[in-house]
Amino acid sequence: RDVTSAQSALLDWYDAHARVMPWRVGPAERRAGIVPDPYRVWLSEVMLQQTTVAAVREKYLRFTALWPRVEDLAAEEDATVMAEWAGLGYYARARNLLKCARVVAVEHSGVFPDTRDALLGLPGIGPYTAAAIAAIAFDRPETVVDGNVERVVSRLYDIHTPLPEAKPELTSVAEALTPTQRPGDHAQAMMDLGATICTPRRPACGICPLIAECAARVAGTAADLPKKSPK
Ligand code: ADE
Repeated sequence: RDVTSAQSALLDWYDAHARVMPWRVGPAERRAGIVPDPYRVWLSEVMLQQTTVAAVREKYLRFTALWPRVEDLAAEEDATVMAEWAGLGYYARARNLLKCARVVAVEHSGVFPDTRDALLGLPGIGPYTAAAIAAIAFDRPETVVDGNVERVVSRLYDIHTPLPEAKPELTSVAEALTPTQRPGDHAQAMMDLGATICTPRRPACGICPLIAECAARVAGTAADLPKKSPK
């Protein structure tokens, strides 16, 4: 299969249909030379770990209004940040958020590291978040695999291995699909495709930019994938 046609179809679709989010630098802005603020990408990715985009939007705007730079957040009282976190749940995330802000402010002069491996050394940043920040903030060719991406690639390659056993296989095909050009936009395009078109039930294959590339579309199995192991 020619992976480059899928990559360019996906990026062309993203150029036209990227969801607008307050922490995003959209494709047109990127082309105009605007680069993302790693602090804002990090903050949004930590908030998005177990919380929906809709719930995060308001909190993110409040946090960035109160603390526009990582040094501002690092200097805040613990209790004040914890109170603002209310509603996002998982308070361990808020504790790690503050810890991470202080490490970046104090040990890295307020500058986020720009590789996946260096990001992994920071409090509260695991493999998923490190890859997301490296790709989205620094346009590194890292692959971001969340539930949306697992669904998209299981369909694209008609992979019937059930989750969670399928994870290594899905990760490796997702990696093979990651382009060296615009990997950050690619990562966000995969998430947007999974959230808006390649949805769990009734995928909108008729308007999918990857219809010509999709093995599950040919097999008629899209709506049944990914398979899940019985619990
Ligand atoms: N979920 C986690 N990170 C995201 C992002 N950057 N865009 C959309 N949804 C996301």
